[in-house]
Amino acid sequence: PTVLCVAGARPNFIKIKPVLDALERRGADARLVHTGQHYDESMNDVFFRDLGLRAPDHHLGAGSGSHAEQTARVMTAFEKLVDEVRPDAVVVVGDVNSTLACALVGAKAEAVVAHVEAGLRSRDWGMPEEVNRMVADRVSDLLFAPSPDAVENLRAEGYHEDQIVLAGNVMIDTLYANLDRALGSGMLHRHGLTPGGYGVVTLHRPSNVDDPAHLARLLDALGQVELPLIWPVHPRTAAKLESVGLPANLTAVAPAGYLDFVALQASARLVLTDSGGVQEETTALGVPCLTLRENTERPITVSEGTNLVIGTDPRRIVTAAGLVLADPPAKRTPVLWDGHAGARIADALMAHLGSEVRHRPT
Ligand code: UD1
Ligand code: UDP
Repeated sequence: PTVLCVAGARPNFIKIKPVLDALERRGADARLVHTGQHYDESMNDVFFRDLGLRAPDHHLGAGSGSHAEQTARVMTAFEKLVDEVRPDAVVVVGDVNSTLACALVGAKAEAVVAHVEAGLRSRDWGMPEEVNRMVADRVSDLLFAPSPDAVENLRAEGYHEDQIVLAGNVMIDTLYANLDRALGSGMLHRHGLTPGGYGVVTLHRPSNVDDPAHLARLLDALGQVELPLIWPVHPRTAAKLESVGLPANLTAVAPAGYLDFVALQASARLVLTDSGGVQEETTALGVPCLTLRENTERPITVSEGTNLVIGTDPRRIVTAAGLVLADPPAKRTPVLWDGHAGARIADALMAHLGSEVRHRPT
C-alpha cells in the first residue's frame, strides 16, 4: 500500500520517524510529506540530520501565516498531491495545523486516515491545538492513542472500539533510540553546564509568549528560581523577546537540535516548560518538570510521571520550583512507552489496509 506520512513542524519530525521506518520495514510504499510549516535550519534541517530522517519525498512549501492561511495552503497543496498519488492511507501525527489540514484532505479523498497521538484533550478551546486534535480525530479512521486516558476520552466521545488502538508513545520510541547518542552530544560542555547543576526552560505557547507583559512576568519568576537556567528560544518567542529583559540566571540560546536538547533534559535538575513533548520526555527520563500552563492534555505525565502543572502565577512558580528542587517527584513510566509504538502502529495500519474491502475510484 501507498501511505503518505505527514510532518510539518518540529515535534512532527520526531514523531513520524518511527512510524515511517516501521511501515517501510513491513513493505509499505511509505512516503514522507513535509508541509513546510517549520523551515528554519534550527527548527527543521537539524532534525533530519539528528534523526537520520530521509529527505522528504514531497515538500508542500506552506510556510508561516495566520491559522487560516497556513491551514489553507497546506490543504491546497496536499489535495493536489493526494489526487496525483491516490494513497491508500494518510498518517498524521500530533496536533499542529499541518495535522488538521492533511487529515481533512485525506478524509475527503477517501484515504484511510490514521491519527497518531489521538485522544489527548486539554479541554481548553483557547488552545489552537485542542481544535486541531478534536477535528483531526473526528475525520480519522484509525485513532492511535498514546495512553489509557486518551483511549477513555475517545470512548467518552463515542468513537467505535475498533477504531481505537492503544499504541503507546512514538515520541518515546525516538527518545530511546537516540538517548545514547544524545548523551555524547557535547551540549553541556559547550555551555559550561554540569550534570544536575542547571535547569532547562522552553516556552512557545501563544498564551504564554504572545503578550509581552505576561512573558515579562514569567521571566521575572524564572529569575527567582535558585538555579542557572538555559533556555533554547523558539522563534515565535524570540520575536517577542526584544522588548523584554532577561534575569541574570537565565541564558537564552538558539533553538537546540534534537540530540542537544535531549542531552540538556537528561542531565537537568529541573525543566520548566509549556511544551507538550517535553512533558512526556521528562517523564520518560525521570527528570522533574514544571508545566507553566493551567491545564495539560497529557495528564499521565502528572499521574505517573514527574510533571506538575502549576499555572503561570509567578509566586506559584517560585514556590513550586523550590519544593521540587528539595524533594523531586518519583516516576513510573506509563504503559507502552517502551520504544515500540511505531511498530504497533504499522502492524495495525497494515492489517487494516489488508483486511479492508475498499472500492476506490481510479
Ligand atoms: C507550532 C504549532 C504548535 C507546536 C509548535 C512546535 C500550530 C497551530 N502550532 O507552533 O502546536 O507546539 O509548532 O514547535 O500548528 N517561525 C520561524 N521559523 C520557523 C517556523 C516558525 O521563524 O521555522 C516563526 C514565524 O514567525 C511563525 C511563528 O514562528 O509565524 C509561528 O510558527 P507556527 O508554525 O505558525 O506556530 P508555532 O508557534 O511554531
Ligand atoms: N526540542 C528540541 N529543541 C528545542 C526544544 C524542543 O529538539 O530547543 C524537542 C523536544 O525534545 C521534543 C520536541 O522538540 O522532542 C517538542 O516540540 P515543541 O516543544 O516544539 O512542541 P510541542 O511538543 O509543544 O508541540
